[in-house]
Amino acid sequence: MIKFDGKALLGWVDARFPLTKLWKEHLSEYYAPKNFNFWYYFGSLALLVLVLQIVSGIWLTMSYKPDMTQAFASVEYIMRDVSWGWLIRYMHSTGASMFFVVVYLHMLRGMMYGSYRSPRELLWLIGCVIYLALMAEAFFGYLLPWGQMSYWGAQVIVNLFASIPVIGPDLAVWIRGDYTISDVTLNRFFAFHVVALPIVLLLLVVVHIIALHEVGSNNPDGVEIKKNKDPVTHLPRDGIPFHPYYTVKDIVGVVGFLIIFSAIVFWAPELGGYFIEDNNFIPADPLKTPEHIAPVWYFTPYYAMLRAVPSYFETQVWGVIVMGAAVLIFFALPWLDRSPVKSIRYRGPIYKSFLAAFILSFLILGYLGVLPPTPFRTALAQFLTVVYFAFFLAMPWYSRIDRCKPEPERVR
Ligand code: HEM
Repeated sequence: MIKFDGKALLGWVDARFPLTKLWKEHLSEYYAPKNFNFWYYFGSLALLVLVLQIVSGIWLTMSYKPDMTQAFASVEYIMRDVSWGWLIRYMHSTGASMFFVVVYLHMLRGMMYGSYRSPRELLWLIGCVIYLALMAEAFFGYLLPWGQMSYWGAQVIVNLFASIPVIGPDLAVWIRGDYTISDVTLNRFFAFHVVALPIVLLLLVVVHIIALHEVGSNNPDGVEIKKNKDPVTHLPRDGIPFHPYYTVKDIVGVVGFLIIFSAIVFWAPELGGYFIEDNNFIPADPLKTPEHIAPVWYFTPYYAMLRAVPSYFETQVWGVIVMGAAVLIFFALPWLDRSPVKSIRYRGPIYKSFLAAFILSFLILGYLGVLPPTPFRTALAQFLTVVYFAFFLAMPWYSRIDRCKPEPERVR
């Protein structure tokens, strides 16, 4: 009888591939600060949702037809006739929204604890590129069910590109591959959604983790644990091995997340029209514009800003610039912050007020973006757009003059 010898097998692999070395470097001997809290769940949860989306997406692709005349019906076929198709579809549609919930909370954590500050600027920039790629991935995916909102949402967004001076109209044709949103557009969005962007996202996430493990994790105190090492072991005094301590902690986050995720999938997959819009249960009709077009909730803060900017000289381009700037300004964050401390725990009242105003402006803008505009709502959106930008643009000033508490030497 052949006896299975796991150790010998591992030795055989290790002589040919650095498996144990990678395991140690990134898990069992990766020292993370011992004070991670609730906010540190969202990185691993983002990884979980990425995997969920890829797996459910592969199964959807098995029955979906990227063809203008069949796309809508193929989604209905998945929902009604494919075994467990409804579950796979709702997992994917809920996963898309939950991806943004998790990523927004993950970004907020970075902002609260100053995780974008030196030496993690590049890690933050890679995160910002992931955010852009995620938005593109969501935008391309949304056209695929070929419902009314898919069609008209894509129409609105592509038309934004058309408003760019000089190159705009040609750019819009180039994106669509046609003069209108058509079968050609559907096919190329499908290619981007199922092949190009998932590869880009996966690569970016790997690079994100490599960059994180190069500089080491920040923590709720914003104290660098590498500055305080044990002279004998040379290990950070305030660090604990990621595995088993944080793998176990992250399982708690995963279970909590899956409870919420399953509750939505099984009981409220449309979530009152926020996760799947009512209009998207109607097949796309190029001859009938829906009365009110709004993107999915995760884009609505930016959409509200776009609508808040008046169309001077008959062009929407100023709104497009404001909207683009609202997303791209995250890239500048590491260089706008001049505070002597990183974490919100030691920051003064001015920073805290600006951050609170920023969070509120983002949430209220998101709500306004879902609603049809009225003069009052437009005026409110204009005010909140100013508040949103003030958080970033006034940061070099208020982060310097704020009354901070002294940062401790060691994590609490
Ligand atoms: C697919 C999306 C993403 C995935 C899978 C992902 C994954 C992760 C993971 C696993 C960690 C380590 C665990 C943790 O600190 O929570 C992490 C840390 C971090 N991520 Fe992300 N991330 C994503 C998107 C983003 C975005 C959009 C940003 C910012 C714009 C960002 C910025 C950061 C920062 C600054 C850290 C270090 C935080 C610290 O040490 O305090 N990430 N990410």
